[in-house]
Amino acid sequence: MTFFNSDNERLAREVISRYPRARSAAIPLLHLAQEQEGWVTPAAMVQIAELTGSTPAEVLGTASFYEMFKFHPVGKYVVNVCTNVSCQLLGGEELLEHAEASLGVRAGGTSQDGLFTLEDVECVAACTEAPCFTVNYRYFHRATTGSFDEVVADIRAGRSPIHHGAAGDDGELPEHGTLGRVRQHIPDDRRAGVEAPEDVVGAPLWLAADRAGEG
Ligand code: FES
Repeated sequence: MTFFNSDNERLAREVISRYPRARSAAIPLLHLAQEQEGWVTPAAMVQIAELTGSTPAEVLGTASFYEMFKFHPVGKYVVNVCTNVSCQLLGGEELLEHAEASLGVRAGGTSQDGLFTLEDVECVAACTEAPCFTVNYRYFHRATTGSFDEVVADIRAGRSPIHHGAAGDDGELPEHGTLGRVRQHIPDDRRAGVEAPEDVVGAPLWLAADRAGEG
């Protein structure tokens, strides 16, 4: 079964070649699938299983451990509102209630226009900036109902909302599924090689390359 488009299938095979065992590439291939479709479809899991020599059940078993992989269609923008302790103390639950009213959807659902999926989430590791929410995993700190509305208004108007305080980004809000926009490229002389760990004799190739560079 073919899920990946031709470019992504080529990339998937290149990613697999970086690992001693093909099944070790499951996680990056799941990210690639989610980037292509916005969620991890059954067809994606079947093809990942074929490519990595595992079963679709094993792929699902791995993927379902991670909250960020979605197994059903989600909106173009996934909004996470943190209601864990730090955020809760500073208005996180009120922010979530406001988000539900503002987007017209209960936490866990997707707005009728398909634009927003709203999620009530546990700590997203930005407690010092509470209360906070994320959109497609880009952070918005010290949020208020007003700043939430500004972010939603920007998105609806086709503007990037990043100027409202999302940290560590380049000003653009990517679609759901895009974790990084810079593709990793590992030159051949920096690869760890494709030998299984137990078959490696001596220093790993990357260490040998480092030592050669020092000399
Ligand atoms: S409790 Fe909200 S980021 Fe930690």
